Amino acid sequence: MTYRYEKILTNPVFVSTIRKIEEMEKDRFYCRHGMEHLISVARISYIISLEEQAGLSKDIIYAAALLHDIGRATEYETGSPHNSSGAETAKDIMYECGYSEEEITVVTDSIRSHGHESRKTEGTSLEKILCRADKLSRTCFKCRAYESCNWTDERKNNTLVY
Ligand SMILES: [Fe+2]
Ligand SMILES: [Fe+2]
Repeated sequence: MTYRYEKILTNPVFVSTIRKIEEMEKDRFYCRHGMEHLISVARISYIISLEEQAGLSKDIIYAAALLHDIGRATEYETGSPHNSSGAETAKDIMYECGYSEEEITVVTDSIRSHGHESRKTEGTSLEKILCRADKLSRTCFKCRAYESCNWTDERKNNTLVY
């Protein structure tokens, strides 16, 4: 069985945009948003989903995680927030990879709201799991940029596991 998220990995827009983000961030002192981050978020999200019996499919979780920061390229170029532009790009990529309208809506809603502090609460909806995994993927507790990072103490991840 071929998972649709595998198709995301070879989607030309996905490949070129991630390459661009990695290039733009290559000298970045703070958190990066390349493949390593995206895959960490996917795996952590899936672990949470299994542990908390959220019943979310790998196709949904991996699409959300792989695409959640795709808007970073536009943010660096134009200054517009990556959540909204990312949701638009994610929609097109998911459509090309065979996702249904409903699946696209669930995933793009979670991308649009990720990073909002209010979403980082307990709960097994895709958007809550994505937000928690995004935070847990960051090893703030051992980060060289801890002091100068503009994230609030609350936003920083200080735990190995949740
Ligand atoms: Fe983000
Ligand atoms: Fe992220």
